[in-house]
Amino acid sequence: MLLICGADSGRQIFEIWIGSGIYYARFHKSIRDWVKRLPANAGIGQKVFLFSTSGLPFLSVFYHYPLRRSLRRQGFEVVAEFSCRGHDTFGPLWLFGGLNRRHPNVHDLKRVEVFANELVHRYTDPPRHVATAGR
Ligand SMILES: Cc1cc2nc3c(=O)[nH]c(=O)nc-3n(C[C@H](O)[C@H](O)[C@H](O)COP(=O)(O)O)c2cc1C
Repeated sequence: MLLICGADSGRQIFEIWIGSGIYYARFHKSIRDWVKRLPANAGIGQKVFLFSTSGLPFLSVFYHYPLRRSLRRQGFEVVAEFSCRGHDTFGPLWLFGGLNRRHPNVHDLKRVEVFANELVHRYTDPPRHVATAGR
């Protein structure tokens, strides 16, 4: 699980990046529990970026839906979402070495770097630069 908050010099949080693997078609329970524990309207004025790895990332629009809905109920603005393949050894897949071996790979990391840099240029002032480390 990964939760990264950007804050301005006045320590006000203005962007939150939330990511994890997908488990039983949902983000990790610790993320879902964290959102449930937030006070009502805690997200007003705050932008959220969601990202995940999963065995079947083309289903991410469905996997992200419950968290996206909870965040929006709390007032967060979910501005962008990213997903990529992750090594999936769930259940019987383990017997066959799993789906998506060696993912996320260097190409996935490059895609997330492009995604993140486009967003920080669009949403942060002054723009910053995001770099990922290859595997
Ligand atoms: C218990 C469990 C349940 C999973 N359920 C799903 C699922 O519903 N859909 C999917 O596409 N991948 C599923 N996966 C695959 C994970 O999303 C994938 O392996 C992810 O990259 C794991 O991230 P992690 O290495 O950070 O834990 C599941 C994996 C585990 C271990």
